[in-house]
This record gives sequence, C-alpha cells and structure tokens, in this order.
Amino acid sequence: MLTIDEITITDAALEQMSATPNPRLREVMAALVRHLHAFAREVDLKPEEWLEGIKFLTAVGQKCTEFRQEFILLSDTLGFSSLINALHDRRAIEAGTKSSLLGPFYRSDSPDLRLGDSIISNSRKPETVIYGRVVDSAGKGVANASVEVWQPDENGWYDLQLQDPSKMDLRGRFHTDAEGRYYFRTVVPTGYMIPMDGPVGDMIRAQKRHGYRPAHIHFLIGAPGYREVVTALYIEGDDHIESDTVFGVTESLVVGVKQKDPNSPIAGLPSIQFGFQLGELAGKAETGRVGADPSQIIAKADPAQIVAKAADSSH
Ligand code: BEZ
Ligand code: FE
Repeated sequence: MLTIDEITITDAALEQMSATPNPRLREVMAALVRHLHAFAREVDLKPEEWLEGIKFLTAVGQKCTEFRQEFILLSDTLGFSSLINALHDRRAIEAGTKSSLLGPFYRSDSPDLRLGDSIISNSRKPETVIYGRVVDSAGKGVANASVEVWQPDENGWYDLQLQDPSKMDLRGRFHTDAEGRYYFRTVVPTGYMIPMDGPVGDMIRAQKRHGYRPAHIHFLIGAPGYREVVTALYIEGDDHIESDTVFGVTESLVVGVKQKDPNSPIAGLPSIQFGFQLGELAGKAETGRVGADPSQIIAKADPAQIVAKAADSSH
C-alpha cells in the first residue's frame, strides 16, 4: 500500500499518467505535475490560498467571451506569452524578425486592403505612413506576403473594446508587391492600459503594477515556405517603453516617426519605416501565435482538441 505524503504524491500522480500513449502529451503533463507540486511545496501552499487561486482562475474563465480572452491576458501579464515567443524564435533555423505578443485583440477576418490604403475606417487625422519591405534571410523581397495589421486608436482602444465589437476599425490585411514592399496609412496609436476590469486587472492592482502597454502596432506576416512572424512595432519615446506590463518590447522592434522622409512611398505625411525578415520554414508550419481570434478559441473549447493538438505536434 502506498503511503501518500507531500513528497510521494508526485511520483504517485506521475505513475498514473505514465501510460499516456501520446509521447508529447505524456512529457508535457508530467513536467506540469512536477513543477506544480514543487511550487506548492516551495510556498507551503495552504488550502484557503489554493481555493483563492481556483476562484481567481474561475473568474478568468468567466470573463472570456467571443470578444474577450482573459486567459491570454493572464498569460501575457505573467510573462508566459513572451517566454513562449522567445522559445519559438530560438527554434528557427534562419533568423527572422523577433516575435512579440499577439495579444487578445487579433481577428483573423480583417478586411483585405490595397497597398497605400488607410486602415482608418472613419477619417481621422493626422495620418502617418508605415512602410518597408518583407525580405528573406538573404535580403531578397518576398512577393505577395500577407501582412495583417491591427492597432488601438489615438485614445488607446481597439475596435473589439468599443460599443459594437462586430464593427472593424484600424485593422487590415495587405499583400506585398513583387519587391516585397508594403505600405499603408494609419494614425499613430498611443499607449494604453490593458483591460483592467477583470480578474487580471485585480491581480495587476494587487501587485502595484501600472498596467500600461507602450504605443504599438501589431503585425502578422506570412508567406508560403516561410515561418510566420507575429510581432509588433513599438513607438520610441513612450513613457512605458521600458516597463511594458506584458513584456512585449525588445530593442529591435522600437521605431521612430520621421516628419520628412524622402524614401517614404507617400509624400507629405510623417512616416515609420521597418523591414521584416522571414526565416525559412523547416518542415511543418509552426505558428508563433500565442492565442488566436477570441471567437475561435471559444468555438474550439473542446477537450478532444487538446489531445489532437498534442498528437499533431509530436509528429
Ligand atoms: C495587445 O497588445 O493588444 C495586448 C497584449 C497583451 C495584453 C493586452 C493587450
Ligand atoms: Fe496591442
């Protein structure tokens, strides 16, 4: 008969899971149990504290809707999304632009736009041009790459957070030209506070963190045969550039706004220039997205999917 105590419980749990047929699911779950048990031992976790933790996680789940993903926000604010991004970048066989958070406001159905179009749905000024090239590791332009962009407005709100979240604004999908060039018009966003009206906001306040993200514009770039890049450009000079609540900023992604740039494809407007690099895809497509369109996550909340995904990633 097993004697279960605060040490032997870990092996007992691992033993019960050891027959999991899928090797990746077995590996991930065993490591999770080992680290979770070690965490409880390290802090000598008390029942009432764990119940508070369960209450918190329940509230995180209850806050999720088709338009809101509180679990991604939790992952982001714990630095976990950035860690997953860094591990993803390290697996690349060819260097590409660094990853940065997808965040909770991505939608996969943003409108298709033409190069030079504005992503602003109701005319607001002043406009700024964002332009550059998407290149491969040899510096050659990648033609017809998909460039999806989304950003908050001048007041720090995403369309998904406004009155009618089914209406889209400040997002769009472009395709690069034959030289790999992309360019579009937008407004320069301001920094904003992450959504603080849920349990993650309560956590941030309890930790005396400011809750701000520096001003940024999100990009998701892909082309057949290349690793998808999920990233964001951060506007230099923002007060919170060194203390992003979700740890998305890295030096190589910081950009400046130029008032007069002779290279800008649209004259007479301020501009931001940035070149993206796509690395070659080694084998099967691997995504750098931590999260997805919130409505899709809700639609796929099916335990069978976890097993299917694990099986898929172990091939
Ligand atoms: C965002 O950049 O959209 C974002 C990322 C993490 C948390 C909240 C917002
Ligand atoms: Fe954002």
